[in-house]
Amino acid sequence: MNTPVITTLCYIEDDGRYLMIHKNKKENDINAGKWLGLGGHKKEGETAARCLMREVKEEAGITLLSLNFRGIVHFVSPSDEEYMFIYVSDNFDGTPRLECDEGEIKWIPKSDIETLNLWEGDKIFLSILESSNQFFNLTLTYDDKGNLISSHDKQELYQDKHCISKHSDKIASCGKRALIVTGRNSAKRNGSLDDVIKALDEHGITYTVFNEVEENPSVETIMKGRDAGVNADADFVIGIGGGSPMDAAKAIALMLKNRGRGIDYLYENGNPSDALPVVCVPTTCGTGSEATAVSVLTRRSLGLKGSIPYKIMPEYGFSNIKYLRATDMQIIRNTAIDAFSHLVESYINSKATELSRAIAIEGFHKFRYVKEALLSKYTPNDDTLNNLLTMSTLAGMAIAIDGTGLPHALSYHLTLEGNIPHGPAVGYFIPGYLNAAGSLADLIFDVIKISDAEDLKELFMRLYHFERIDKDMIMRSINDVAGNQAKLDTAPFYAGKHLLKDMADFMC
Ligand SMILES: [Fe+2]
Repeated sequence: MNTPVITTLCYIEDDGRYLMIHKNKKENDINAGKWLGLGGHKKEGETAARCLMREVKEEAGITLLSLNFRGIVHFVSPSDEEYMFIYVSDNFDGTPRLECDEGEIKWIPKSDIETLNLWEGDKIFLSILESSNQFFNLTLTYDDKGNLISSHDKQELYQDKHCISKHSDKIASCGKRALIVTGRNSAKRNGSLDDVIKALDEHGITYTVFNEVEENPSVETIMKGRDAGVNADADFVIGIGGGSPMDAAKAIALMLKNRGRGIDYLYENGNPSDALPVVCVPTTCGTGSEATAVSVLTRRSLGLKGSIPYKIMPEYGFSNIKYLRATDMQIIRNTAIDAFSHLVESYINSKATELSRAIAIEGFHKFRYVKEALLSKYTPNDDTLNNLLTMSTLAGMAIAIDGTGLPHALSYHLTLEGNIPHGPAVGYFIPGYLNAAGSLADLIFDVIKISDAEDLKELFMRLYHFERIDKDMIMRSINDVAGNQAKLDTAPFYAGKHLLKDMADFMC
C-alpha cells in the first residue's frame, strides 16, 4: 500500500445549509458524480488548517475566518489509505462562486443532504457531525468497488456527553462477557463505571469488575486481573480511568487471549492482534491511551518501567467531560502536561511523519486555548474540558505513529524513585528539549502563542512545583538514557550526554 494521503474536508454552514460541491467536471475523478464538502489534498509541510483555507479559497473563492476541527476519518481500501481531517465553519468572508474546475457548488439544506449521491461513509460522519459537536475518529473500509464494508481492523473514538449510551451497540459488538478493569474509586465517583454498566445491562452483557489497578500498574496486577477475567470467562475487556487502568486493560486482554502463559509472555514479541477486544473510557486528559496500542507496565522486581512489546489497539474509546469534571485540578494540570509532552515528542521526533505532525499541530491548537485555564484553581468550563480531552486523544494518536522521545525516557527515574507524577516528570525536560530543537520548534511556539522555551518554562513552573526534584536522581536518568542509543536516536538532531544535561539544566 502507498504512503497514506492526507486530505481535508469542511462543511461550511449557513442558515441551515451546507456548501457542497458536485464532482462532475474532472476526468478520472474517484469522486465523479458524488457530492462532498469542500477541501482537498494537503501539501507537504502545510498544516491541515492552512490546506483547507487554501482549498476553499481555490474552489469557492471565499475566505474562512474561523474553523472548528471536528475529527479524523481514516479511509482504507485495497489500494489506498487516506486520513481526512474534518472541519466545520460558519464564519467566512465573500460570496461562494457556483462552480469551479472540479464541479458545481451549491448550498444544500441540511434536510436534503441525505437525498444526494454521497459516499456511504460520508453519511456516517455527517450524522456524527449533526448529533455531537465534539471530536471523533473513525476508520471506514471500502472494497475495490467503492462499497463500504465492515472491518475488524478499526478504531473508533467518540467524545460526547452521552457517547457511551449513544454507541452502546458498539460495546455490545465486542462480546458477551466483559471484564471491567479500573482503579479503586475514581470510576465509581465520576460516574463512568455506572454509565458503562448501564450500557452493558441494556444489551444483556454480563460483567465482572476488577478494581485493583494501581498507578504504574505492575505485572503482578496484570496477572491478578487475568485471573479475574478467566474466572468470569470474559471475552472482552473495558478499561476505565487514566493511563494505568487503560494500559492494564490492554495487557490483561493479551493475557486472557493467552491464558496458559506466564508473566514473561508480556515481554515476548508476538502477534500484534493477539488480544481480546479492548474498549477504553478515559477519565483523565493526559495519557491518550485510548488512541494508542501501547501498554506501559512496571516490573518492580527489576526496577523497570516501560512499554511491553505487544501492540494492543483499543477498538473503541469513549471520552466524556463529565468524568473529567470530578478530577482534582492538580491532576488535570499534571495530565495536561503529559498530553502536551506527547505532542512535542511526536512532532520533534526522527520518526515524525506528515500525518503525525498534522495531528500534533491540531493538538497544539487545543493547548493554546487551555493553557490559561490550567492556572486557575477552579475546574475549567466545558469548552476547556473538551479541548483538554481532545488534546489528550490527538496526542495519543500522534505518539501511536512515531512514539515518545527523550523527555519520556528521562522521566522514569523521577516517577519510580522520586514519586513525581508522570506528567510533571516528563514535563521537566520539555522546555529544555524545545530549546535544543531550535528552529524545529518555531511552528509549535507560533501555534501555542508562547514566545519561546523560557516562557514555556515559566508556565510549567506555575503548573507544577518542580524545585523539590533531587539532582542526583536526574543524573541517574541522564546516565541511563545516554547509554541507550535507540532512545538518543528518537531526536531529529544529535543527542548525547551533554544535550541531556542541558535539557535538565534548562529548568534550574
Ligand atoms: Fe506520557
